[in-house]
Amino acid sequence: MCGIVGYIGPRAAAPLLVEGLRNLEYRGYDSAGVALLDGGTLSVRKRVGRLSNLEDALATEPASGRLGIGHTRWATHGEPSEANSHPHLDSRNRIAVVHNGIIENYAELREELKARGHVFRSETDTEVIPRLIEEELRAAPGDFAEALRRAIGRLRGAFALGVITADAPEALFAVREGSPLIVGLGEGETFIASDVPAVLRHVRRAIYLRDGEMAEITPDRVRVRRLDGTEVRPDTQNVDLNPEAAERAGFETFMLKEIHEQPRVIRQLLKTYVGPDDRPRFESLGLSPDYFQILRRVMIVSCGTAYHAGIYGRLLFENLTGLAAEADLGSEFRYRGPRIEKDTLVIAVSQSGETADTLASVRLARRKKCKILSICNVRGSSLARESDAVLFTDAGPEIGVASTKAYTAQLTSFALLAIHVGLLREELDPARAAELIAGLRAVPDAIHYVLDRKEAIRAVADKHHSGPSSMYLGRKFNFPTALEGALKNKEISYQHAEGYAAGELKHGPIALINEYLPVVCVCTRTRDEVYEKTLSNLKEVEARHGRIIAVANDGDTTVAGLAEDTLYVPEVPEELSPIVNVVTLQLLAYYAAQARGTDIDKPRNLAKSVTVE
Ligand code: G6P
Repeated sequence: MCGIVGYIGPRAAAPLLVEGLRNLEYRGYDSAGVALLDGGTLSVRKRVGRLSNLEDALATEPASGRLGIGHTRWATHGEPSEANSHPHLDSRNRIAVVHNGIIENYAELREELKARGHVFRSETDTEVIPRLIEEELRAAPGDFAEALRRAIGRLRGAFALGVITADAPEALFAVREGSPLIVGLGEGETFIASDVPAVLRHVRRAIYLRDGEMAEITPDRVRVRRLDGTEVRPDTQNVDLNPEAAERAGFETFMLKEIHEQPRVIRQLLKTYVGPDDRPRFESLGLSPDYFQILRRVMIVSCGTAYHAGIYGRLLFENLTGLAAEADLGSEFRYRGPRIEKDTLVIAVSQSGETADTLASVRLARRKKCKILSICNVRGSSLARESDAVLFTDAGPEIGVASTKAYTAQLTSFALLAIHVGLLREELDPARAAELIAGLRAVPDAIHYVLDRKEAIRAVADKHHSGPSSMYLGRKFNFPTALEGALKNKEISYQHAEGYAAGELKHGPIALINEYLPVVCVCTRTRDEVYEKTLSNLKEVEARHGRIIAVANDGDTTVAGLAEDTLYVPEVPEELSPIVNVVTLQLLAYYAAQARGTDIDKPRNLAKSVTVE
């Protein structure tokens, strides 16, 4: 999705803006631009395509100024083009605006402005904003912040804005209404950004603007007001991300680094959420033990990879806690007319905490008086703030667009949470709980085992990557693993991939099987009641000459005898096997993508954080 940065301070702004935009590249974009103010002179540079194109433009035609805003755009209204890229200007070229999100009533505003003589230069929803400000300023000249505030009052939708103007050349303006934006405080300089990594190198403290707030930033002051005009005390927090953590640490891509970070992330989660008595501890969640007794149902909402974690969560809650559980997609949940009441706990799962459909689901659940527990990776995110309780996955910044460590952290969080609730409700035998905790402690080493065998995974990927399509199968706990393996593959290698519940094979997808189709099947053993059934599914594929790639436990000669290639994983309890098995599929997709020569960290058309519905 789009990215915003802004700078005001003693240094030349252009390189800092470009650096900030580069740090936001992972969010996905198709064009970029900056606007700089040097006294009363406003300069704008925009380019379609990679940021290096914008850098070339700035090298050929430098833009000076110690105040500026920048933007990476991911097209929603209007194709990727220079005219549609941000910043957008008013008709006098004195106000520049960058915008994330969507202005829902832009069409009527555009008509109104056209009737007043405005000639639009782009097809975007954004361009109405500088022109509305211009109109407000014309109606009551002088106070720019006031004109901005009034103009915003006319907008409907979700947005974050960065604004500069030649009419107030000593100030940077920021507005947040439904889309994330922070004000980063450095030494004698101030930044704005849609995401902390943009400015991580330069700031140690940040103001996380709340919805309905605007900031007026001058070299010596940050003034925050609500959009109704009332002054508020800014909520300043330490930025605890370590800049090195956002670097690749020697790995060829962020995704590969993040895949390798998984054992560490899981160990950390266990350290945080398992007590000295070897039982999960969640006092910090703030949901009382009594609450879990009156609870009747759990409803999990999420999108993308986090949705697959939700399916896993549903299985665990049903198996370990005796509660009815459901998992749904954020984008579907909101429109299905969910019958939820206050005896339902809504669990929202999100890496970024900013996914529009997940947030909308949470707001709906809140209106229905449900409590909200979120499993989230970003402190200070909208989701974290809007939840009654948050289980932070603390996986560190995830830069690769395809989610990996956030996913296994979500699975681990679900495992801990379900064990906790199962014990509280006396539905889970404490001896079984202890086995599961011991199993969780073995997971990081099991993942290391998989990582150590990445060359074998690469060899299999090299052999099978070139076809047009692939199928992924799994059952029960590993049904979401199959879905996630297929999603990883299509996201980064662009090979079409279908994830299926293995039992569904004969209800349709079996028609696809021939001697060319790679069929990746998760068939790990343990005490798994579906192991034998999955073996039968594998035989169905074998009988039709499908090319089976099996994920199996070490030493499983039965599976190996059926498969063309077998990728081995260590045995862990059935319930926890998805946390290990998926790492094999992440690497399989990774090496397939590498063989197909794609841009792994920034796959085409994808955005890391989808802040529009
Ligand atoms: C986007 C990302 C996915 C992610 C999904 C949900 O589509 O590309 O990787 O799984 O959003 O994001 P969230 O931040 O809510 O987990």
